[in-house]
Amino acid sequence: MVPFIPMNVLGLESTCDETAAAVVVDGIHILSEEMASSASIHAAYGGVFPEMACRHHVEMFCPVLEKALEKGGVSPQDIDLIAVPQGPGLVGALLIGMQMAKGLSIAWKKPFIGVNHVEAHLVGAMLSHPSPPIFPALGLVVSGGHTLLLYIETLGVYKKIGTTLDDALGEAFDKVAVLLGFPYPGGPHVEKLAKEGSPTIPFKSGTIQGKPFDFSFSGIKTSVLYAVRENRYAKETIAASFQEAVLTDLVQKTQKALLQYPTARALYFGGGVVQNRALQQKFIDAFSLPLFFPTPSLASDNAAMIAALGFQKFRLSPTSSPLDMEVLPKFLPIG
Ligand code: KG4
Ligand code: ZN
Repeated sequence: MVPFIPMNVLGLESTCDETAAAVVVDGIHILSEEMASSASIHAAYGGVFPEMACRHHVEMFCPVLEKALEKGGVSPQDIDLIAVPQGPGLVGALLIGMQMAKGLSIAWKKPFIGVNHVEAHLVGAMLSHPSPPIFPALGLVVSGGHTLLLYIETLGVYKKIGTTLDDALGEAFDKVAVLLGFPYPGGPHVEKLAKEGSPTIPFKSGTIQGKPFDFSFSGIKTSVLYAVRENRYAKETIAASFQEAVLTDLVQKTQKALLQYPTARALYFGGGVVQNRALQQKFIDAFSLPLFFPTPSLASDNAAMIAALGFQKFRLSPTSSPLDMEVLPKFLPIG
């Protein structure tokens, strides 16, 4: 075990539509965070427009970085490590973050480390609860790009239990929101509308023969489209019914996973969708083991979770990533 060395880690994040930088001390104490989102630019398109997201990253990275350093009262000399997502994410967006990290590493003569963005989402939940993490555990990442159920043996050692075979759940929320007349990102709008309706339409999330832990949300999206076209139901009813069906599916598959992996002693959540209060309540009602939800700012894409994971990885293997490190748009924390 490498001796514990306190360090200031600069985390960068630019996998999708958020340009962010954060300084995290010793992998746990967030000194400063700064973020500029391009979500309002994408609102008109019903989803993220990759080229626009990239232009925004190029424009915003330097001001965001400068503000994060200024807010934290630190200068480049005080930074011990730069952490950046190697993937997964939009390829152009990842490249911008990676080039930024490499450039800073050369200019500041500091090591940098490429980490996994999905793994970092789970660290977001750990960062939100200062107690030592409980392993083995189950992990559930539900974002705009991923729906992933994992067995976490310990940090860095994962087994994939299930994933989506088509749309990520956040993406399904966003598409349903467009059908109901809301702009991107639509998840919070659907949640709000669902509160005013009853889940009386028997929508069903996908089940896949022989793959009991995998998800499919494209079918239910089409069912929502037909229900909207039929013009027979109130939008509130459609939103409530959609939300009820997909959340029930998440809970039931996670319950099944726990039966398969009874050694799991906790459940860690990550990704923008887990901010959904109805999701949180459903899991709280269904599980008796400790559940760790990230705080809102650590749930959706953020740079603090990248810095915290970078710290953990560097502590185990204190070497800089190579300057020819490539980005991996489909990189998952498991093989
Ligand atoms: O983790 P995140 O910020 O970005 C990705 O890595 O994708 O997640 C963004 C996603 C969007 O699809 C957004 O609609 C969804 O999270 N989301 C929600 C809620 N808040 C954000 N979905 C459902 N209910 C919410 N309250
Ligand atoms: Zn994410």
